[in-house]
Amino acid sequence: SGSRLEMLASLIRDVPDFPQPGVVFKDITPLLASAKGFQASIDELVASAPADIDVVVGMEARGFIFAAPVALALGAGFVPVRKPGKLPGDVVSQGFDLEYGSTELNMHRDAIVSGARVLVVDDVLATGGTIGATARLLEQLGAELVHVSVLMELEFLGGRARLESLGIRNCSAVLKV
Ligand code: PRP
Ligand code: MG
Repeated sequence: SGSRLEMLASLIRDVPDFPQPGVVFKDITPLLASAKGFQASIDELVASAPADIDVVVGMEARGFIFAAPVALALGAGFVPVRKPGKLPGDVVSQGFDLEYGSTELNMHRDAIVSGARVLVVDDVLATGGTIGATARLLEQLGAELVHVSVLMELEFLGGRARLESLGIRNCSAVLKV
């Protein structure tokens, strides 16, 4: 409902000039610290999920906080996408550009069976780099990216257009800021 979304929005704190001058950081820690806020955020993400999800994928680190409870609520498994050097097994890897430089994300090669129906959950869609790389990882595994659910979309950064250019059209955001 509208008032639930207003409550969620009120629990996200704007922090000017973090992590760099000129950037307004969206801090979700007040939302997480609120029992009602955290529960409502998970409920909204669960409501955005299509039926018959086999696996929920979450991205280190903030994505884990939301993806794991969503997986439990859906009766699905949870698979982590991790930053380099963290996973012990055989991994698939996908590089992507950051504002300055580049990085990569990893997933265990045997984490998801080919044809599995996957929901990707993260806290924020900003430029779309993280979700785009995650989609490529799933492609490498032959998994089906059914939907992407984020808590917050920073519309002015144009991430949705970037995702569309990668063929990702099935993306929903609980809050648009
Ligand atoms: C943040 C956020 C998203 C990503 C969104 O993660 O949690 O995962 O940026 O930005 P993008 O759409 O431009 O890729 P970050 O890697 O900064 O750190 P985290 O470990 O705190 O999640
Ligand atoms: Mg993140």
